[in-house]
Amino acid sequence: MEFNEVIEKRRSIRKYKDTPVPREYILKVLEAARLAPSAANRQPWHFVVVQDAEMRGKLAGRQSWAAKAPVMIVGLADADASPGWCHNDLGIAFEHLVLAATDLGLGTCWMGQTRRDAEIKELLCIPETLGVVALTPLGVPDESPGPKARKPLYQIVSWEEYGKN
Ligand SMILES: Cc1cc2nc3c(=O)[nH]c(=O)nc-3n(C[C@H](O)[C@H](O)[C@H](O)COP(=O)(O)O)c2cc1C
Repeated sequence: MEFNEVIEKRRSIRKYKDTPVPREYILKVLEAARLAPSAANRQPWHFVVVQDAEMRGKLAGRQSWAAKAPVMIVGLADADASPGWCHNDLGIAFEHLVLAATDLGLGTCWMGQTRRDAEIKELLCIPETLGVVALTPLGVPDESPGPKARKPLYQIVSWEEYGKN
């Protein structure tokens, strides 16, 4: 896909087929995350790939639709490695992952909080210094939602100084 097509086609997908995702595709999206920029190149991130159905169900919490996808990826930020920037960095890496998935025809949906941070950490044996920043199901979409509205550029951009159109 052309880069702009990837950007335009990405959607939050909340309905998935139970078709398995080949390991090769999982590795491709993780590789896209690995190549992301980070402050001082500290790469303060970790990704937990969950394929076990019972665990996916637990991670999804009340958003049970997310457990239908055969893979759930949990993005962690390491506050010890980069206290000021780890959340920014994880966000960038996670979006790389999401866009790479779109390019492969796979669906994702950013999820900020499915359960309390401490609960997810206990479920996945995550060390104390790592924070859960984002989760996404990864799978073959079973819906094609249209684009959601976005603010027009003039509302979100100033030229030369704030408020100048
Ligand atoms: C940080 C973050 C957290 C989100 N959390 C959830 C969530 O918990 N559940 C959900 O269904 N969607 C979640 N979303 C998806 C947004 O609702 C979605 O991106 C937005 O409505 C725009 O739709 P689109 O992604 O299809 O363009 C989240 C998105 C972001 C960036």
